[in-house]
Amino acid sequence: CSFLKEKSRKEVLEVLCQGLARQEYRGYDSAGLGVDGDKPGEVIFFKEVGKVAGLRKQIASSNVDVNKTFVSQVSIAHTRWATHGVPSVANCHPLRSDPTAEFCVVHNGIVTNSAALRLVLQKRGFTFESETDTEAVAKLLKYVYDSQADKKNLTFTDLVKAVLKELEGSFAFVFKSTHFPNEIVTARRGSPLLIGVKTDKKLKVDFVDVEFAGQDSKDVKADTLHPTSPSALLAPPSANPKVLRTQSRAFMSEDGLPQPIEFFVASDASAVVEHTKRVLYLEDNDIAHIADGELHIHRLRRQDDRDQTPAQIASTRTIETLEIEIAAIMKGKFHHFMQKEIYEQPESVVNTMRGRVNFDTNQITLGGLRAYLPIMRRGRRIVFIACGTSYHSCIATRAIFEELTEIPVSVELASDFLDRKTPIFRDDVCVFLSQSGETADTILALRYCLERGALCVGVVNTVGSTISRETHCGVHINAGPEIGVASTKAYTSQYIALLMMALQLSEDRISLTERRNQIIAGLHSMPAQIKKVLDLDSVIQQFAQSVADYKSLLLMGRGFQYATCLEGALKIKEISYMHSEGILAGELKHGPLALIDENMPVIIIMTQDSLYPKVQSAFSQITARKAQPIVLCNEGDDGIPANAKTIRVPKTVDCLQGMLNIIPLQLLSYHLAVNKGYDVDFPRNLAKSVTTE
Ligand code: G6P
Repeated sequence: CSFLKEKSRKEVLEVLCQGLARQEYRGYDSAGLGVDGDKPGEVIFFKEVGKVAGLRKQIASSNVDVNKTFVSQVSIAHTRWATHGVPSVANCHPLRSDPTAEFCVVHNGIVTNSAALRLVLQKRGFTFESETDTEAVAKLLKYVYDSQADKKNLTFTDLVKAVLKELEGSFAFVFKSTHFPNEIVTARRGSPLLIGVKTDKKLKVDFVDVEFAGQDSKDVKADTLHPTSPSALLAPPSANPKVLRTQSRAFMSEDGLPQPIEFFVASDASAVVEHTKRVLYLEDNDIAHIADGELHIHRLRRQDDRDQTPAQIASTRTIETLEIEIAAIMKGKFHHFMQKEIYEQPESVVNTMRGRVNFDTNQITLGGLRAYLPIMRRGRRIVFIACGTSYHSCIATRAIFEELTEIPVSVELASDFLDRKTPIFRDDVCVFLSQSGETADTILALRYCLERGALCVGVVNTVGSTISRETHCGVHINAGPEIGVASTKAYTSQYIALLMMALQLSEDRISLTERRNQIIAGLHSMPAQIKKVLDLDSVIQQFAQSVADYKSLLLMGRGFQYATCLEGALKIKEISYMHSEGILAGELKHGPLALIDENMPVIIIMTQDSLYPKVQSAFSQITARKAQPIVLCNEGDDGIPANAKTIRVPKTVDCLQGMLNIIPLQLLSYHLAVNKGYDVDFPRNLAKSVTTE
């Protein structure tokens, strides 16, 4: 939204399309937007299945007057990743309350009680145009609005508050209404949301006060309908919750005069960074209202909000300055973001270690953990919790963590951890790994552990993300923005972050000095060794061609390399859509051997560590069944049969070798996908940041 700043429709559309394009990497299957029309109260929509480029084409070929200018306007846009309803134009956001679009909304998340709401609204005469869960929200707004006797005193915020109380599930919403022109209301519960602020003048305040509403549980009860019981909606809803504290402060320039100002509401900073670096992250149950160039934040209190984090109950929201540069989210000379990110690894691992590893004194300092180290050392166990690639970085480092800290470590997939209602106690240390810091399952697992009093530690890439804010302490991996849906540089940086954590936790163990020093020396050589592995790119490209026509590809290894197999197989599945499985070589005889014949391509990881002889025997077992494996091994290893096809990587310390070994597999998956003509950065059906359960 922009206020007192003359903008043409063309400029507005460009800001929206560009913002969507910047967030393309999150994964989506359709895109849409709604802008102010020519007459007051009119909204013009554009919707397209597929890419933002398609949406741009549709706009270019339409006959809307792109030169029309606005002094103040609000516009909304969205990329959709289908949950309820197939990808189609009808299901595209923004969704509207009725054909005149009295209310329209874009939504990231899932409204889990939408079926019940839909039923009630249908009974009240509403006709639905889409299969989405979101449409019920637009219609509910209209229903609540229509049923208010005193519309004059009704504010957009109060209306949204009343509606949000009816919703179950997770969301980040942006609402626009013809009844409240030049106003926007945005709210979050469970899905990320931030507001960028751009003005030429200096802001008088660097924070926004929060207004608490319905703090008293009695008030909340009176205002709360029971959304899961459709009949509850038959009672006229109260859209006027009691405000117990009103101190909300708007943005003002230093001279206090009205000023041209723009606000950018987005799920992630990449969409706003080219306009402004000044952002404010909303907390769960925050409702922000923007009108007349002012921003006010309100809190929605619910009966089930028992366990609010300190950030949520704080009475102000601070405006932060983003540190990312626009170049960091551009492809530069590379063909794809994934390729760029693979190639960034020599630098990204340095950034992870910067200021933390002192190679002269062999000391590790993780500032974000300092105050918590004694508690961590006293913990009776450490539980790593994550999803996808982040989970694999936990598997990769579990053994060295246990070896150095002598604390038992368990590794949990966040969804399974929650499904099992895993027992967690006050003396547990729970470590949450997440590139985005927004993965819904990991966030839910974090909240579950916070409730049970465990120390919660975050290892996150995205600064300002939910996990980085809600954990007690943590480490930012500082790998820089990762755009490619298939995670690459975040894996190697998470790997190093966990290693540094284990090294710091074990710094007092004299008996481990030699081992620790060996690992730290290995870390020192890591960037140069990664560069050497990247030089193998053209060799890997040939291997990719040689396996491209097979249906399946097995990756085999053990010990430290089991995680490499799992992660390599995930990369291949994700972007080349080829079936691939990571197999623990120790389990070979318990089933996977049955898959082996001359037609099954296998990559076996045989780098030289203490398990080398055991992997050699796995090699013999598969070659005896006519497999012709590609062997991923160390440079100069002459124990590999001369006729074997090899990928040779530099040798490092056993517990670091996985970082070098994963790189040929990242490259292999990349070339497989390019060969097949697939969209490397946006694989079908996948999203970068899975913000729904
Ligand atoms: C999605 C992404 C993966 C990622 C996983 C966990 O599946 O496509 O690349 O590894 O989520 O994400 P996180 O942001 O929590 O590391």
